[in-house]
Amino acid sequence: MKRDDLNHPTIQGNKWHKLKLNLQQAQLENKTTLVTFGGAYSNHIAAVAAAGKDLGFETHGYIRGEELRDSPNTWSHTLIEAVDNGMQLHFISRSDYRLKQSFEFLSTLNRLHPNAYILPEGGTNEYAILGFKEVCEDLENQCPDWTHLYTAVGTGGTLAGFIANARYQPKRQLLGVSTLKDSDYLIEDISNWVTKASNHQTNSWRLLQNYHGNGYAKSSQEMEDTQVWFEESFGIPLDPVYTQKLVFAFLTELENNHIPSGSKIILYHSGGLQGRKKQDIAQSTIL
Ligand SMILES: Cc1ncc(COP(=O)(O)O)c(C=O)c1O
Repeated sequence: MKRDDLNHPTIQGNKWHKLKLNLQQAQLENKTTLVTFGGAYSNHIAAVAAAGKDLGFETHGYIRGEELRDSPNTWSHTLIEAVDNGMQLHFISRSDYRLKQSFEFLSTLNRLHPNAYILPEGGTNEYAILGFKEVCEDLENQCPDWTHLYTAVGTGGTLAGFIANARYQPKRQLLGVSTLKDSDYLIEDISNWVTKASNHQTNSWRLLQNYHGNGYAKSSQEMEDTQVWFEESFGIPLDPVYTQKLVFAFLTELENNHIPSGSKIILYHSGGLQGRKKQDIAQSTIL
């Protein structure tokens, strides 16, 4: 397991790789504010709030679910911590949220936050994809003969980052474990990111769509039991939304003989441990 839950004290896991070049770019452009989007349990929201606090940016988070505006007593730990880190929250309806990448919505944001660097949902953009170069180099040094890499998938940016940056070897495969139901559309999204970001031959890759546990932030008893077993056996904490499904998927693939013997497998621990907080787990059925 590549323990990237340990790579940064406040912006851990894949978030560090996705944000670091974006933060440099925001500084280069002399931006004073970071604006982004997410659900009430978004690790990305938590990471942007922490980054803003560390680097002196004002931060604004546009959060899906206007019903949360007047009920702060129902806020997730993620939102409470984001506010503690100085983020200003703006709650918007699900229909407005769907328009967040539209020209009109972005123009309004630019008017409301004139010197802002706008980060997309989940932080996935070209800088985010490029940000995975460093961790791919780490893997070449730490486990040069790896054959399989498993990573959890939300927007697909992390998997795209690995595909675009990992050194090509004929036997290598990258496997993304989708945490969402009906995630076919991600295959095209990921392919597009990779085409834009990579100028070399890439390893083969697949999106595994059978391990979403009935949808985003939901999971089965079997998956939860696997998390408990894994943590007790190896002393490595997992998060309930992403890495729990990653480990469950890997163990199931192994059990079903889908992985050839002699393979050298890396499970990518993408962090997200702030999502372990009790309140979030209890409420994790709310999207
Ligand atoms: C801990 C963790 N792992 C994996 C992912 C999935 O990353 P991506 O959205 O790049 O697919 C996320 C979230 O976005 C996350 O927070």
